[in-house]
Amino acid sequence: MYYPDELVEEIRTKNDIVDVISGYVKIQKKGSSYFGLCPFHNEKSPSFSVSPGKQMYYCFGCGAGGNVFTFLMEYENYSFQEAVKALAQRAGVSLPEAEFNEEARKRESRRARLLEVNKEAAKYFYYQLRGEKGHAGYQYLRKRQLSDETIHRFGLGFANVTSDDLTKYLKNKGYEDKLIQEAGLAAFDEKYGMHDKFWNRVMFPIQDINHRVIGFGGRVMGEGKPKYLNSPETMIFDKSRNLYGLNFARTSRTNNIILCEGYMDVIAMHQAGFSQAVASLGTAFTEGQANLLRRYAQEVILAYDSDNAGVMAALRAIGILKEAGLTGKVLNLEPYKDPDEFMKNLGREAFQERIAQAENSFFFELRMLQRDYDLNDPESKTRFHREIAKKLCGFSEEVERENYIEAVAKKYHIGFENLRKLVLACAAQTGLAKPAARPKSGIQAKKDPRENQKKPQKLLLTWLVEEPALYQKIKKYISPSDFTEDLYRIIAEKLFEDLDQGSLNPAAVISLFADEEQQREAAGVFNARLSELSTRAEQEKAFHDIVVAVKRNSLEYFSSRQGADVSAITRVIEGKKALEELSKTHISLD
Ligand code: GTP
Ligand code: MN
Repeated sequence: MYYPDELVEEIRTKNDIVDVISGYVKIQKKGSSYFGLCPFHNEKSPSFSVSPGKQMYYCFGCGAGGNVFTFLMEYENYSFQEAVKALAQRAGVSLPEAEFNEEARKRESRRARLLEVNKEAAKYFYYQLRGEKGHAGYQYLRKRQLSDETIHRFGLGFANVTSDDLTKYLKNKGYEDKLIQEAGLAAFDEKYGMHDKFWNRVMFPIQDINHRVIGFGGRVMGEGKPKYLNSPETMIFDKSRNLYGLNFARTSRTNNIILCEGYMDVIAMHQAGFSQAVASLGTAFTEGQANLLRRYAQEVILAYDSDNAGVMAALRAIGILKEAGLTGKVLNLEPYKDPDEFMKNLGREAFQERIAQAENSFFFELRMLQRDYDLNDPESKTRFHREIAKKLCGFSEEVERENYIEAVAKKYHIGFENLRKLVLACAAQTGLAKPAARPKSGIQAKKDPRENQKKPQKLLLTWLVEEPALYQKIKKYISPSDFTEDLYRIIAEKLFEDLDQGSLNPAAVISLFADEEQQREAAGVFNARLSELSTRAEQEKAFHDIVVAVKRNSLEYFSSRQGADVSAITRVIEGKKALEELSKTHISLD
């Protein structure tokens, strides 16, 4: 790791987790912990807990958890090093100069290098736009009515007609071919060598919420295909977890977010004073983006194109917003194609009015659905009503469902009771929607075939954390090397060392890992709930089974490696003996 462990630990202890998290999430004291609504998944009752004692947070709903560094990594999208830096600054701890020397540079993460090369490229494009070669680009943007101030604010730039200008520039600055390629700024070709990805385009740097350039979109000037060219996904550019314009929108202090389709739409909105506008990154709106938005607003107003493709995209986005627990509304931009054109023609007051008139997303869905039916034909009309009923079954909360039944009945002139019956009949067939319960971090948990081996290892660690006195009773049978899962072995090594010294420090264990997912998994060890077994005897049996399972798995693991590894033989002999002894031993929990 890049900063010394002791320094990392010092920074961690100087940043009380309750203080830090309070700056982002409203939490309230309940017993020895603090609780609040989890910022990493959608929920209505608080299952996000922060423990001042353990200096850790954990969500019982989605499994997010870790120490103060993990929190910033998850929330601010920081790398481990960046989280350390931010918290060092917060606590007034100065970081060693060594960080800047050549040696440290070499060790610097790939991520930081990618951010650097992108920033350098953004600067380059920016200056090109203002130079002679970029004149056409500048003219183009001005013709599209962007002010100098707007062009500056969004850091717009220009990629020259020449096809290797940027590459040359970056290489001159000391960036190696491999990095430039990895950033998606250039490609290698047998025939032409290194050549820029973007040329003869106006450039839109894409920034993350901390204003760091993570990718680019480039637009041809005038007609030409493809209209927009976007950077490929890279280690720092996850298109499903970032939004164009969110770096500004997050501080717009409005109670809604305007979701557009295009970069130009976002820019036109901001220029007109609607700084809460964002857009997805050349791909469809995703669940990860909805989760991101939930941190900043409860209501999302869709300002998608008025054409059919825009309507289809809006319908998809509505479903995603609903899943994430966000309120969706749809803006009518008619007779204009998109927010940019609307703004140019009718201006900001008219747009503000359209926001006030934005349609509830459910009614928008029904209106679009209605296009497939002929309401003058009783047959078709009945089918339409059945479809409405089916959609109404999608509301899991009774009050909400009833309210919608009422509103829909009124709007479509259907008898309230009739519609209600139809909904119930439909529910009897397909069932009402259940409140969503799902792990969320944008990354879905994968089914792991090793799960059966991992579980006892994890549980054993949890037991030891919960009841440290047990350590003395099992240490003759179990050593850290019995944990065949790397992550658990690393935790066990630290934990056993702590237990030997009689002082547990779970939050410090988390910092042993620089990767967010690993930190989360490690945090899980310290927050798992041991199954609520009622009697002590049942608990003792469960614990005994866990110890045996860990030992047996370790024995199998080392048996399979016999021959390959001399020490494995010793491990096997020792393992067999321990298992035998364990089978005869009663481990008391008291
Ligand atoms: P303008 O014509 O410049 O006003 O573009 P726009 O902002 O109205 O964008 P448009 O509605 O045409 O497209 C919406 C978004 O889809 C753009 O901002 C791009 O992110 C993406 N997009 C559009 N065209 C292409 C394309 O040809 N390729 C890719 N990969 N993405 C595109
Ligand atoms: Mn447009």
